[in-house]
Amino acid sequence: MRLIVTTSQSVKKESDILKEFIKETEIEYVPRNRKSIAVLSAENDAQGIIVWHDEGPVLHVGEEKLFFHPSMAKNRLASYRKYQTEDLLIKACEIKNSDSFLDCTLGMGADAIVASYFSDKPVLGLESSFPIAVIIKWGMKTYQTRIPWLTEPIKKIEVCHRNHYEFLKELKDDSLDIVYFDPMFRQPLMASKPINALRAIADPSPVTRESIAEACRVARKKVVMKEQVKSSEFEKLNFNKVFHSPHNRIGYGIITV
Ligand SMILES: C[S@@+](CC[C@H](N)C(=O)[O-])C[C@H]1O[C@@H](n2cnc3c(N)ncnc32)[C@H](O)[C@@H]1O
Repeated sequence: MRLIVTTSQSVKKESDILKEFIKETEIEYVPRNRKSIAVLSAENDAQGIIVWHDEGPVLHVGEEKLFFHPSMAKNRLASYRKYQTEDLLIKACEIKNSDSFLDCTLGMGADAIVASYFSDKPVLGLESSFPIAVIIKWGMKTYQTRIPWLTEPIKKIEVCHRNHYEFLKELKDDSLDIVYFDPMFRQPLMASKPINALRAIADPSPVTRESIAEACRVARKKVVMKEQVKSSEFEKLNFNKVFHSPHNRIGYGIITV
């Protein structure tokens, strides 16, 4: 997918942070010149247009838009803070303050933010889709909120555009505590607006046995994978324990290493 970056109609020139973004990502900058997204897309033969707003980047792909927003993580953390609602990810991973957490499938970063909240350590998020990695990395960097309990976990996440198998192979044995996977479900649950944009550009690959073997070598405590409870992926990948709440179709497979 060819990507270009431009500014929103109201922005007249490149800001320093946009210059930094262009330098790091090497995505071609095209001045907006009052043109519509459709015109810019056609003129530049670009399937993805990143529009840089003061609040962060928004990727336009056809009719869909993708931008970082921590709404799901915020709801989960607010529910925990207010009602002590136990978060299933945290329960499955049994994250302690001192645990290092590697999210092998970052996506929109909701799970990484929740994990980051419960650990004092930085969280590393891997994402193999370049447009998603770029939007979430720079969206997290530019995101501003006055809620400190949300800002801190977001700013502690390091986003890396990497395929998790290639990355895991480079790590030493027992180098971090928890390794987590949340691949695109083999069978999508339902059409959900925020996920639609992601689905169009996400890496749909299943998690492989080789990746799980590498994850078990690298993890000191647990390897955890989210999938639909009835998915055959858990058995295929040797997850011996599957954990879920009674009314939830989503489960967490756990390998304690
Ligand atoms: C279901 S989403 C993850 C959602 C995420 N847990 C969240 O809370 O927002 C799966 C993501 O994993 C990415 N992905 C799939 N295979 C990958 C791989 N081999 N390495 C890194 N990322 C991968 C996809 O591009 C997609 O963005």
